[in-house]
Amino acid sequence: MSDAQADHRAFLNRYYGVSRFIYDATRRYYLLGRDVVLRDLAADAAWETLVEVGPGTGRNLVRLHRARPEARLGGLEASDAMLGHARAKCPWARILHGFAEDAPLTEVLGARPDRVLFSYCLSMVGDRAAAIANARRALSAHGEVVVIDFADFAGLPHRAARAFRTYLGTFHVAPLSAADLESAASVRRGPRGYYVCATFGPIS
Ligand SMILES: C[S@@+](CC[C@H](N)C(=O)[O-])C[C@H]1O[C@@H](n2cnc3c(N)ncnc32)[C@H](O)[C@@H]1O
Repeated sequence: MSDAQADHRAFLNRYYGVSRFIYDATRRYYLLGRDVVLRDLAADAAWETLVEVGPGTGRNLVRLHRARPEARLGGLEASDAMLGHARAKCPWARILHGFAEDAPLTEVLGARPDRVLFSYCLSMVGDRAAAIANARRALSAHGEVVVIDFADFAGLPHRAARAFRTYLGTFHVAPLSAADLESAASVRRGPRGYYVCATFGPIS
């Protein structure tokens, strides 16, 4: 583990150590668009295995498990505090500790995943290009990386957008930029540029 990863892990453990208990109740108001992505994934019969990077409390995995009980689900989580929480909530999933940038995602389920999901995780990741490339390299032949996260807030009043960016920055969160999505196969922006959904195909 690099020094930067050790610092990031320590920050995440401090941040989520207490807040994980109120996380789902508070985040529902501003982690928008997640349920649309989960509905699309639930309706997509083309996958059998999915790994969520940064599953947090396990909220998304629970919804996917309810919709697709036959699917094999896994997770990769950098925060020990969230890892314990998600494992307790999702006993049917295999969730490992690791970092999006370099963890061997093929080891989570013992096979290349058909889908890798980043839900409001990439905006906390230090090296996003490495994280996206790491996920794309792990995919099965017809796999897809699915991303939902903060976008540029272009449709919000300028001051509100700036204040929200500053607020997010205090939690080490930085919205995605166009450069982060350069290699995406599809990009769909939410209302007022609040969030963006993107997909990426496999690379070797
Ligand atoms: C904002 S929370 C989102 C949780 C969940 N995906 C959701 O939609 O509710 C971001 C999660 O990503 C994890 N995370 C942050 N940086 C990470 C990294 N480099 N590698 C893996 N997980 C990371 C955090 O610990 C946290 O659980």
